[in-house]
Amino acid sequence: MPYSVPKLTDFSPAALDSVVRELLSALEEESKAVHSENDWKLFRDRWMARKNGVLTQLNDLWLKVAPGLGKREVGQRVNELKTKVTEAVEKRRIKTISLALSDSLELHGSVSAKVIRGRLDITLPGIRRPIGAEHPVIKTMNEIIGVFRNLGYSVEEGPEIETDYYNFEALNFPPNHPARDTQDTLFIAGQQAKPQRERLLLRTHTSPVQIRTMEKMRPPIRIVIPGTVHRNDPPDASHSPMFHQIEGLAVDANITFGDLKGTLDHAMKALFGSSVKTHFRPSFFPFTEPSAELYVTCFICGGSGKRGADPCRPCKQTGWIEVLGCGMVDPNVFEFVKNNGYDPKKVSGFAFGMGVDRLALLKYGVDDIQLFFQGDVRFLQQFG
Ligand code: PHE
Repeated sequence: MPYSVPKLTDFSPAALDSVVRELLSALEEESKAVHSENDWKLFRDRWMARKNGVLTQLNDLWLKVAPGLGKREVGQRVNELKTKVTEAVEKRRIKTISLALSDSLELHGSVSAKVIRGRLDITLPGIRRPIGAEHPVIKTMNEIIGVFRNLGYSVEEGPEIETDYYNFEALNFPPNHPARDTQDTLFIAGQQAKPQRERLLLRTHTSPVQIRTMEKMRPPIRIVIPGTVHRNDPPDASHSPMFHQIEGLAVDANITFGDLKGTLDHAMKALFGSSVKTHFRPSFFPFTEPSAELYVTCFICGGSGKRGADPCRPCKQTGWIEVLGCGMVDPNVFEFVKNNGYDPKKVSGFAFGMGVDRLALLKYGVDDIQLFFQGDVRFLQQFG
């Protein structure tokens, strides 16, 4: 028998106690019978609907008819009941939601049959989801970062959409200088109205983060900067318009080219094995002086230039592979961050930047850089 609100004739406290008790036990019974969202809506309306809900009936059948003296007493009881009913309805709503949730978990097979309705046994072992494999480029990146972390370097990052100022100007590329052309820059459209240094572009290297870091951290610093960079290179087996670099920067009092050589020689041995030899050749970058390219003995042919009777392709038979650009930080670069403690008369430093994808290609013997970015699971699974 569903509960219905009785008409009151006896307004004594004892009589009120008894009808209140009846109402509350009906509330509890009906609440227990709620299992679905639909049940809950009916339950809510039955008790709380303005028109003919139980609470409304309490007003009409109890409060309005209470005699003058008893009104206060009845009013208080009705108010208490309103609070209790509201709470019970809300409690049941939450319970219904959690029931629905655990049902759907059960349905999807992600929680075992030991899930008790509305309760989750958190002592059960978790559900294993197959974890993907680290992408070979990210894996190589993490390995390189690890080598420098062991040397006390920390990791910094910067934006991929960069201003001309950070990508070029503060790195000592004068405006309109031909050295900018070597970077095959992809520019963001519609920037002509801005002063050149504020125009946006896709960073062509991770070197702008050198400046960004020196602006916020005083010397001494030792950092590596992993990141994605973009250049207007048509894709082929060895080029991609999107690729990855790891930059390094060390600034302190009395840093020398010897430190640069020792650090990079150690890093290459840590990455490619202790038998690798390094070799520096003069080069040019606007932001380093002197500048160099670092070569390592080809880890495919061991430096011989041959694979059995065949010519070694990765090193083009030279026995050497170029792995990065580097040099001593140009004093003109320090001028841009002089106010943060980088007086070129007091500090010196070295920087380097390497192409991670190229290293990953060599390391895993992959012959087409495009494979790294096509997302073909059959290819990527091999690195799992
Ligand atoms: N940013 C240079 C490039 O992308 C590499 C480099 C970094 C050279 C740091 C010297 C010092 O080609």
